[in-house]
Amino acid sequence: MHVHKYEKLWLVAALLLIVGFVATITYGAVGAGVAMVDDSGGTIDANSIGDDENFGDPGVVQTGEDEYAAYVVAQQFSFRPDPIRVPAGSEVTFYVTSPDVIHGFEIVGTNANTMVVPGQVSEITVRFDEQSEVKEYGILCNEYCGSAHHTMEGKVVVVP
Ligand code: CUA
Repeated sequence: MHVHKYEKLWLVAALLLIVGFVATITYGAVGAGVAMVDDSGGTIDANSIGDDENFGDPGVVQTGEDEYAAYVVAQQFSFRPDPIRVPAGSEVTFYVTSPDVIHGFEIVGTNANTMVVPGQVSEITVRFDEQSEVKEYGILCNEYCGSAHHTMEGKVVVVP
């Protein structure tokens, strides 16, 4: 049977469309799921956070002249460390992970607001301006994480 040139073209186009749809459904769904979660800080074994060099004893370390890394563990039903002390006039990158269930990490009054997923490290950078007085920011958990979810809070203390 002779297949006309244009018929062939349409066959190829239809095939590409089908492949495209399948790819969209398969990878699109995964892509959307990942986009909701900030895993830019990489992954971690949620069961051995206590042995991790950064999260075993979480805290703030200086990484540059005015740059700091704050390692934070979000767990039922607190944030560690609490409070998180950082200097004013600094840029702080928060690395947050969870050993148990999904939590939220919002520093009220800043751009920091992310989900915290066991096995993943959420990374978010906040600039704290120079100031002459100590300033406190509340940390909230925005994901329902158990019976005491509503009590889960922490504090960032910015020290001049
Ligand atoms: Cu942790 Cu809600």
